[in-house]
Amino acid sequence: MFGRKVYFFGGKGGVGKTTLSSAFSTILAKRGSRVLLVSTDPAHSLSDIFGVRIGSETREIDDGLWATEIDPREEIRAYVERALETIEGSVSPDVFDQIREIFHAVEHTPGVEEAAVIDTLSRKILGGLEEFDAFVVDTAPTGHALAMLKTVGRVGRWMEEVIERKLKAEAMKEVAGVEDRSTLALEVLRERRERFSKFSKLILSEKTLFVPVLNPEKLSILETERLVREVTGMGISITHVLVNKVLPEEVSGEFMERRKSQERDHINLIKEKFRKFQLVFIRLRPMDVRSVEDLKDLAKDLEGRLWS
Ligand SMILES: Nc1ncnc2c1ncn2[C@@H]1O[C@H](COP(=O)(O)OP(=O)(O)OP(=O)(O)O)[C@@H](O)[C@H]1O
Ligand SMILES: [Mg+2]
Repeated sequence: MFGRKVYFFGGKGGVGKTTLSSAFSTILAKRGSRVLLVSTDPAHSLSDIFGVRIGSETREIDDGLWATEIDPREEIRAYVERALETIEGSVSPDVFDQIREIFHAVEHTPGVEEAAVIDTLSRKILGGLEEFDAFVVDTAPTGHALAMLKTVGRVGRWMEEVIERKLKAEAMKEVAGVEDRSTLALEVLRERRERFSKFSKLILSEKTLFVPVLNPEKLSILETERLVREVTGMGISITHVLVNKVLPEEVSGEFMERRKSQERDHINLIKEKFRKFQLVFIRLRPMDVRSVEDLKDLAKDLEGRLWS
């Protein structure tokens, strides 16, 4: 699982994406890589786990480890602002008002959050290729992560097309001078499209790995099966599947025995459904992972399993 440039950790809500992506990042950093851990989860869970306020600026949180949190709503606002800035002055005030209205209307449509997140993510990753050896992305639960990844393939479509069409129409009828600014705006749009195209190539290359995280529970297994199918269908590589919160061997008592027995069935199902991948089992700990110490302890365990 080592040696890649970009890792996306994905899976159902609450399975341990933030915990394991954080633990994995500390392993890479400890092994000498410069790592940027990116969360696309508005809950600021990285700040919680590392006990420091992270936020949208990239900051160093440990030796060799940097982190940043992307807040989707915040990104939409910034995205719309950037887009509006780009075109302001290059179209007539009337058309500008129309475009602004369209933007505010689409702000709440499905897929926009993901487009905004991927816009920022692609900037951070492509802009940091020299600075960082690896990027670890803690994605939002399944649906959002999938929508986000799919967005990469079809970005350039929603806002850009609207703007581009308007600009072209304007450029044709407007007088000299305006044309230059329209051309400039179109160039900015082109830059974005080219960036997405580069980002898409990176994601589909062998430099990127998607790492599904699941728990030995029925719903988590079924959801991960769909996730794996979709992600591999998009052409993104998966080599390992992390099975988190496995009951320890030493549990006892009738109640725990029954849970353990049910879990054995689920683990058999996991072995069957994900037989093409290397399975990595991570034990359920007695307590939540809430501090850097807990995290490093878990990371030690994980590192041993990833290397064995
Ligand atoms: N192996 C483990 N043993 C014990 N607790 C764990 C383990 N892995 C994760 N947890 C705990 O489970 C909870 C959920 O983990 P985490 O926040 O990493 O999940 P997530 O998939 O990121 O959730 P969300 O979908 O809400 O972002 C946390 O309280 C975390 O400390
Ligand atoms: Mg999380």
